[in-house]
Amino acid sequence: MKNFVLCVTLNFLFFINTVVSIQLTASEKIIVFAPKGSFTLTCKVSEEDENPDVVWYKDGTKVAAIEDLKTVMKYDASNNAVTLTVNEPKEHAAGNYTCVTPESSDSIEVRRKVLVKVPANINVVEEEKLRVHCKILGFPTISWVFLNETYTESQGRVTVENYTDEGKLVINGALTVSDIKKEDRGTVTCLGVDLITNTSDSSECMVRVKDKYAALWPFIGICAEVIALCAIIIIYEKKRNKTELEESDTDQSPDQKNTPDHGKDANLRHRQ
Ligand SMILES: *[C@@H]1O[C@H](CO)[C@@H](O)[C@H](O)[C@H]1NC(C)=O
Ligand SMILES: *[C@@H]1O[C@H](CO)[C@@H](O)[C@H](O)[C@H]1NC(C)=O
Ligand SMILES: *[C@@H]1O[C@H](CO)[C@@H](O)[C@H](O)[C@H]1NC(C)=O
Ligand SMILES: *[C@@H]1O[C@H](CO)[C@@H](O)[C@H](O)[C@H]1NC(C)=O
Repeated sequence: MKNFVLCVTLNFLFFINTVVSIQLTASEKIIVFAPKGSFTLTCKVSEEDENPDVVWYKDGTKVAAIEDLKTVMKYDASNNAVTLTVNEPKEHAAGNYTCVTPESSDSIEVRRKVLVKVPANINVVEEEKLRVHCKILGFPTISWVFLNETYTESQGRVTVENYTDEGKLVINGALTVSDIKKEDRGTVTCLGVDLITNTSDSSECMVRVKDKYAALWPFIGICAEVIALCAIIIIYEKKRNKTELEESDTDQSPDQKNTPDHGKDANLRHRQ
């Protein structure tokens, strides 16, 4: 009986001992992913263990319970590391991942590589307003480059504003330039920097300035066409009337002069 108790106690102590000894340390505090492909998170395990009891969480929810998140969990005994590989990460793969044992845990923040996008071309009519929206993915801090100047806030003709893209607030995501001049032709650049991961992206828009009368030209063209057509019709009608008159003149003379028989016949017929 004594031996049995001792054995149980020893076992118990041994069990406590092994469990307590496992400490987790994230290899990186932050990682950046680009969609397509995959990314891997690594937590080092302090003690060798056949099968460490590690559970991964993402923003407080067990990763295994998150649908649509394609993951592979592994224990790499030679490196004493547990890894979580996320395949084909989508936008919502970003978040805080935590590797957890009953005694220890550590977190890794996963951020999407920032992406910014403006239209490739914009045409503006002289003296009107230029407005460019920068679409974003990830969490970039936006600045704009217009005519060699960098803008992070409104200044002079340039207004930098927030705008909402499909329900998402894009801070400083809209650039407006009032009273566009011919010299404003050139590129507008949206620059996005993720200050936490130090990654950035930029996108350029070619701005073309149209003459303010440009819109009038097609109208003037149509008017000119109509006038020309009317003129042609009038001239043609006049000419036709004239030739008809001339023709009727010449039509009658041969009848009268060259066909005297005809005249007689007619006379005969009339007499009958
Ligand atoms: C992740 O954790 C960091 C630091 O704890 C926090 O600043 C950040 O907002 C969290 N990110 C998300 C997506 O919860
Ligand atoms: C833009 O800046 C570059 C270098 O600072 C300068 O050489 C160039 O003349 C500038 N262009 C304009 C349009 O100001
Ligand atoms: C844009 O949004 C941010 C965050 O909500 C806010 O602090 C800032 O004042 C807004 N800027 C403008 C111009 O409204
Ligand atoms: C961010 O990038 C800049 C320029 O590439 C570099 O000078 C700076 O040290 C970087 N900062 C961090 C925190 O990595």
